[in-house]
Amino acid sequence: MSLLQTLQLAPTDPILGLNESFAKDPRPDKVNLGVGVYLGEDGLLPLMECIRIAEERLTAQNKPHGYLGIDGLPAYIKATRSLVFGEDAPVLERVASVQALGGTGALKVGADFIQQLTPSAKVLISTPSWENHRALFTRAGFEVGEYRYYSAEQKGIDVDGMIDDLQQAEEGTVVVLHACCHNPTGYDLQKADWDRVIEAVASRKLVAFLDMAYQGFGFGIEEDKAVIGWFLDAGLEFLVATSFSKSFSLYGERIGALHVVAPDAEAARKVLSQLKVCIRTNYSNPAKQGAALVAEVLGDPELRQSWEDELAGMRERIKNLRYHLVTGLRDAGITDMDFISDQLGMFSYSGLTKDQMVALRTEHGVYGTDAGRMCVAALNSRNIEHVAKAIAAVR
Ligand code: LMR
Repeated sequence: MSLLQTLQLAPTDPILGLNESFAKDPRPDKVNLGVGVYLGEDGLLPLMECIRIAEERLTAQNKPHGYLGIDGLPAYIKATRSLVFGEDAPVLERVASVQALGGTGALKVGADFIQQLTPSAKVLISTPSWENHRALFTRAGFEVGEYRYYSAEQKGIDVDGMIDDLQQAEEGTVVVLHACCHNPTGYDLQKADWDRVIEAVASRKLVAFLDMAYQGFGFGIEEDKAVIGWFLDAGLEFLVATSFSKSFSLYGERIGALHVVAPDAEAARKVLSQLKVCIRTNYSNPAKQGAALVAEVLGDPELRQSWEDELAGMRERIKNLRYHLVTGLRDAGITDMDFISDQLGMFSYSGLTKDQMVALRTEHGVYGTDAGRMCVAALNSRNIEHVAKAIAAVR
């Protein structure tokens, strides 16, 4: 019997798989709220002005396409470290940073690194969490459990339940936390809640792995990374995965970074050496274009300002879309979904059941994940009424 004939067909990806069904759907009024991608009012993926200019500059340089170092483009690494930890922050001497293939790549390099270091550690993710967290950490060899997070009755976070679960975790457990714009729920912890989380992480000697894929989509670039400072203040060692897919609209460039905060510079040097082994044995070294673009923008005061302004525009527009969706739902007779305007980031966790989400897709051509997540950042003034009416029809 052939080895390959024993294979089972793998299930389609719960998020990216929707893109495939969406592409095949012939209905002209179909709406893709599945994947987390920001679309402009014209329904198209924006090319940010700062990226357009940076790309022109890079093209004009006509540089050859040499390999990057295993850890990535130095100017990019420097820029992304400043963005996450602050310009010339003293802590940087004990932070090991590498360029990564988007946020997912950063999580995977981090997962491989921890697995090598402490193979029997368990991983805890939030209930619910980004669909790929469980799969990614399981695939990296971990047993993945959950801590309580979203409570349907509270229409928000079950902070007490979360803290209880963290307090019961075994020492050394890796806790995956969403730094801002929790995916999929859109509900973030308040500062006082984070204090309790940090206290539990410290007292139970847990390893925090912060996933920050949406910096700038909550309240602002600085505000959204505040939690990093609180972890530093508590003297903890932790990991941070970041992504620039969304904040620079550079999805296809696969550009992110992994940062590991170590106890001292010598430990950070060793961490970096091990991260490089993880990268080298997976894909050798990362790709250049996305890193060069981000470095160009962040390294030029005018482009950086333009980026911040445009990102702020995206953030404000999403808030507006939330407001209009709530209004549209109210017009369609749905009065108990106002919580959509309280949620942060690209997503709304609608509370719709799997059956309702399937009906939304099959009967109305509105695509969201089976878990009830919809990407409000893909709405516009032409499709919002259709979406609101479709939601009302399946409820
Ligand atoms: C999402 O959650 O939709 C995005 O982070 C894209 C992805 O890779 O799943």
